[in-house]
Amino acid sequence: MARKKIALIGAGNIGGTLAHLAALKGLGDIVLFDVVEGVPQGKALDLSQCGPVEGFDARITGSNDYADIAGADVIIVTAGVARKPGMSRDDLLGINLKVMKAVGEGIAANAPDAFVICITNPLDAMVWALREFSGLPHTKVVGMAGVLDSARFSHFLAEEFQVSVKDVNSFVLGGHGDTMVPVLEYSTVSGIPVSDLIAMGFSTRERIDAIVQRTRSGGGEIVGLLKTGSAFYAPATSAIAMAESYLYDKKRVLPAAAHLTGQYGVDDLYVGVPIIIGKDGVEKIIEISLTDEAKTNLAVSVDAVKELLVACKAIDGSLA
Ligand code: APR
Repeated sequence: MARKKIALIGAGNIGGTLAHLAALKGLGDIVLFDVVEGVPQGKALDLSQCGPVEGFDARITGSNDYADIAGADVIIVTAGVARKPGMSRDDLLGINLKVMKAVGEGIAANAPDAFVICITNPLDAMVWALREFSGLPHTKVVGMAGVLDSARFSHFLAEEFQVSVKDVNSFVLGGHGDTMVPVLEYSTVSGIPVSDLIAMGFSTRERIDAIVQRTRSGGGEIVGLLKTGSAFYAPATSAIAMAESYLYDKKRVLPAAAHLTGQYGVDDLYVGVPIIIGKDGVEKIIEISLTDEAKTNLAVSVDAVKELLVACKAIDGSLA
């Protein structure tokens, strides 16, 4: 069986980390693509030289030519600019929208059968625009946010309850912004709901509310500390989990930005919801029942995504 091919569009912090993880996990051969000459080639050479130590055979190459992504099975997009302190994800919109146009056209011309995972921010708008520019089926283009946001939530909950993070299962819905919706009702420790853990004295509602808030601004906290860019290890790990579910037809249930066509009362928008990822891409969108509070919060989050799309359409008339 021929090796799978993973194309990474954007060879910056996340792109390099993605390549490292994909090689260590033996997902396939890897192409790092970037507009900057030398960076993808240099990172590819450096990463290739991990092979003898780690014992992986992946062929890792760097390129500035979209032709080299031809035949990719999975494409992960991080091209664009990242946040600096004081910037919101939405501040990136104008620059990254133009980048999505170039990337979408590059994918359409060279790898239209790929499963595409977008990470570029502002995520929910960029994945929508990337799908529009590429023309790929909606089931083959998803956005990575929910896995990351849930991982952040789970990490904080595990610390609070002082339990293994392996046993924490948490859930974040909505847009990948300050309005995201960590859903307590579906967050558990080995099946025990957070509300029960509060009742048992593991924590208090006030402390959990603070964790919800910290999760919402989890990316900003890291931007504030790094000062020169945004998070990259956990975003890369999260996208790789999605890629693995596709490549190995695992049918994992993961929160991700998927194209909604009426689910949750939302039409033609990418919003974070639970989906099943398998060999056909987004195989199912799962519509869970929500409390009134979660519904209200989701509506606020959806409105924020809608506003971003209005801004996208104003910048690029072809999207209107
Ligand atoms: N085509 C391909 N690559 C591009 C393009 C383009 N048109 N424009 C910029 N790039 C490249 C840059 O040259 C850089 O190498 O994208 C890379 C981005 O890397 P970083 O600046 O290190 O950003 P990173 O931390 O990887 O984040 C990328 O993901 O989480 C989001 O908000 C984050 O939008 C940002 C993206």
